[in-house]
Amino acid sequence: MLALAQSESQLALNAVCPYYTMFPLSFPLRIIASRGTPRGWVADPFCGRGTSNFAARLLGWPTIGVDSSPVAVAIAAAKLATTTAGRVVAAARSILAANLDSCAIPQGAFWTWAYHPTTLSSVCQLREALLRDCSSDTRLVLRAIMLGALHGPRTKHAPSHLSNQSPRTFAPKPAYAVRFWRKHGLRPAKVDVLEVIRVRAERFLRAVPDHVEGIIRHGDSRVGGSFMDVPIGLVVTSPPYYGMRTYVPDQWLRAWFLGGPSEVQYRGSETDVRHASPGDFISDLRLVWQRLAERATSDARMVVRFGGINDRKADHVQMLKESLADSGWRLRTVVPAGDADSGRRQALQFFRNRGKPKAEFDFHAVVA
Ligand SMILES: C[S@@+](CC[C@H](N)C(=O)[O-])C[C@H]1O[C@@H](n2cnc3c(N)ncnc32)[C@H](O)[C@@H]1O
Repeated sequence: MLALAQSESQLALNAVCPYYTMFPLSFPLRIIASRGTPRGWVADPFCGRGTSNFAARLLGWPTIGVDSSPVAVAIAAAKLATTTAGRVVAAARSILAANLDSCAIPQGAFWTWAYHPTTLSSVCQLREALLRDCSSDTRLVLRAIMLGALHGPRTKHAPSHLSNQSPRTFAPKPAYAVRFWRKHGLRPAKVDVLEVIRVRAERFLRAVPDHVEGIIRHGDSRVGGSFMDVPIGLVVTSPPYYGMRTYVPDQWLRAWFLGGPSEVQYRGSETDVRHASPGDFISDLRLVWQRLAERATSDARMVVRFGGINDRKADHVQMLKESLADSGWRLRTVVPAGDADSGRRQALQFFRNRGKPKAEFDFHAVVA
């Protein structure tokens, strides 16, 4: 993989913030590299944390990503940014020095146990300032760094996360978390927010890949116009697996940092593909494939990684095949997802309490 990319340190930015159904960077890198020199744009209609977009950047392809989750979009946008650690730290320092007076601080047991008051005040100042203006590449990366640092495990050494003991990939549920922290007598530590940002900025911005033309959009890929007027030469994507609908509640703290409410919202989003029945799911995926086909060049290719979850009885391979019928794409081959990716499967986190996931496959299609 490293031989394909520009240098190992240029891969670092991809890890700026976890997103729990991400696929490994090696997958889009391999697919894009196999197409040779750039021919059109790389598109990902379910871009998540922007892994395909970042791979496209590493290989010099222009790229577009769309996702219905604001958290995904904020992380993916940072993957196309160009800045330096010095600039990110300077931006954070000046926000913290400005001492915004109108900065709202959430109240309640969760917030008291999750963050030391001084840390929470700094987090809220950064949130407020980035909500007001996140237009520069430096602020986009600062925002993604904050999303990555917002919650995670405590360490014996210098803290790398801002919260009390928490999972890194998904946000803790408030009632459960407060019980846990109380039971174990875990008080939140006072964390130097600027220092955490500095360490992370230096790690993720060691070397930034060359700039490419790129667009990351918050939207619903089923809708016409989602891919604007870019000529799509290659699609590398992975839709949500049928029945996986927990993106919004599992990312509620990061969504709060991006302007969402300060408590968990359990209702699903209207802009997500529907999971009520296999029929709904298949027709929503077909709509997305059709939208992509409308913008595809005549020799475009599409590779879709898709697996299944065990608490849904549906035949996931058959579902994906059906979604491709009459979609503007013709299925050529279905191959098991590569061994190189085993153990790093995108759905592993989701299965923490649900036994083994079903096998993942890569579906290769051409324009019909
Ligand atoms: C399996 S994840 C993609 C992960 C991605 N490959 C990565 O490496 O981060 C599927 C994504 O589809 C998004 N999604 C669901 N319905 C959507 C829709 N109608 N339009 C755009 N994105 C959607 C979810 O928010 C989620 O981020």
